Amino acid sequence: MIDLHDILKESGNHQRDLLGILHRTQAALGFIPAEAVATIAKHVHLSASEVFGVLTFYKSFSLEPKGEFTITVCLGTACHVRGAAEIAGAFERTLGLKAGETTPDGKFSFETANCLGCCAIGPFVVVNGTYYPCATSRTVEAILDLCRGDKASA
Ligand code: FES
Repeated sequence: MIDLHDILKESGNHQRDLLGILHRTQAALGFIPAEAVATIAKHVHLSASEVFGVLTFYKSFSLEPKGEFTITVCLGTACHVRGAAEIAGAFERTLGLKAGETTPDGKFSFETANCLGCCAIGPFVVVNGTYYPCATSRTVEAILDLCRGDKASA
């Protein structure tokens, strides 16, 4: 398994290399460990706070390990007027999570987004890169059943 030192060894050490390093670290580890930030910052000649600034600006980076399934509900305007808040609420109630949290068993992470670029087919839900357009409360149940392995009801 690739680790941070392998990633840094294969990466440039300029500021322009930071995003590539962060993307490779996120892909390899599933998140950016807080203790890795200082090492990365030193490698690209930035301060740790500058690297944290980049990490927290982009939603694709996480400082926490993600669940096996990351569920993202779009709450952008077009999805909101079609009922996205109810969809998000159903996931939150069923999983006992707020946006940005992961279930204690590591199975589910729940997130929201402001627009996923598919406004015409909202409410829009994404689970580990699989798209669920025109989501309803039935979609919520089907997604959770599928993730839990109950494929017969999905
Ligand atoms: S507002 Fe939801 S995809 Fe654009």
